[in-house]
Amino acid sequence: MNARRDAITDETTLMSKTADKLSELVDWIDVRFPMTKMLKEHATEYYAAKNFNVLYVFGALAMVVLVIQLVTGIFLTMSYKPDAEKAFASVEYIMRDVEWGWLIRYMHSTGASFFFIVVYIHMFRGMMYGSYKNPRELLWIIGMLIYVCLMAEGFLGYLLPWGQMSYWGAQVIVSLFGAVPGIGEGLVEWIRGDYFISDITLNRFFALHVAAVPLALIMLVVMHILALHETGSLNPDGIEIKEHKGPDGIPLDGIAFHPYYTVKDLVAMIVFFAAFSGVVFFAPEMGGYFLEHANFEPANPLKTPEHIAPVWYYTPFYAILRAVPSKGFGAFLMAMALILLFFLPWLDRCKVKSIRYRGWTFKLALTVFAVSFVCLGYLGMQPAVEPYVTITRIFTILYFSFFLFMPIYTRFEKTRPVPERVTYDQ
Ligand code: HEM
Repeated sequence: MNARRDAITDETTLMSKTADKLSELVDWIDVRFPMTKMLKEHATEYYAAKNFNVLYVFGALAMVVLVIQLVTGIFLTMSYKPDAEKAFASVEYIMRDVEWGWLIRYMHSTGASFFFIVVYIHMFRGMMYGSYKNPRELLWIIGMLIYVCLMAEGFLGYLLPWGQMSYWGAQVIVSLFGAVPGIGEGLVEWIRGDYFISDITLNRFFALHVAAVPLALIMLVVMHILALHETGSLNPDGIEIKEHKGPDGIPLDGIAFHPYYTVKDLVAMIVFFAAFSGVVFFAPEMGGYFLEHANFEPANPLKTPEHIAPVWYYTPFYAILRAVPSKGFGAFLMAMALILLFFLPWLDRCKVKSIRYRGWTFKLALTVFAVSFVCLGYLGMQPAVEPYVTITRIFTILYFSFFLFMPIYTRFEKTRPVPERVTYDQ
């Protein structure tokens, strides 16, 4: 009996000694680096509204995909050869001979598509609840810069396997810079580093894809989070929780990000990994949508594929590019389709943030916008023949109408009264 009691006492002493050592270590670090301060500021004492819905997990999921892409990318780089003579074969080597190479490559290629799925939902959530409005304009702009970097990153990476679609897709997109007035032709040559897409282009795309753009992305994501934590997160009611604080200075409708939302995000991650694994293990090509069939053939500069289409996440913009006969005007429209999104915070004149309390005009406009974007995505995959061309033109007009008429239909919108405090019943 006594021996047992002694053992328990010994164990308790050991545990409390370990805890003391740990807190000593934390103190040691805190004197030299603001670890506890940062954890409090960004997690345990960062208060987010308690009425977040499922759409609020996609920011955290975007971070998960970013990590997947960075880690798998580093491993791919260990066996990939950025050389026009060897690139295609080195990818085959990764798929067949490198230990777990197939898994790393499929995770990276599937990750690219999942990145866009997650980010598109994340952006649309922002549009629904007016997250881009005052005071979160800069947060939105940083997000848009992330989106542009992501598009660039996907495009640069797509040249690397040096397949037919890599080569000809790059050919089409790089040549678009020729539409820039005055300097176009020189610019195209400067980007390619040659008179055609060549080994030189492959080398620089590799450098940009594995070093420059990921670095920019990481920096932008850090800025994104800092900007978010400065203004505080919004919520599905579009109410600023900071306006109703308790005597302790904590927002009455707020709960600590950690542990309350970290645990919710963890559930989302499990669901995400289930879906992600489903694609990686059972349908990595996703019927040609995630990995295009033509890219299983090595690049041949002498043979243009019959049908050039970019990967699905670019096709809404590609459809807009092809909506008009003039290549120059098409390139301009495509650029505008992206640029206008940056200006949403100023185009939207409505004082009410969340779609829950906004008028039917905005609800209709946002629905038309979403439908147009999806339909343009489908049309961008089709050959440029009738009736696709006419339908593309209609949806292009609808897409731009959303932005161009926004200052008007949002100014005269009939909104509903916004509650003082957050709600749960919708
Ligand atoms: C790598 C890509 C991205 C990452 C890792 C990321 C990460 C996050 C995280 C963790 C949050 C907080 C959680 C949440 O509200 O979901 C957030 C919020 C937000 N993000 Fe992103 N984001 C990314 C891309 C974008 C893009 C492309 C946009 C829009 C152009 C954007 C706009 C916003 C906005 C407006 C908020 C605030 C939402 C609110 O408080 O209501 N983000 N982001």
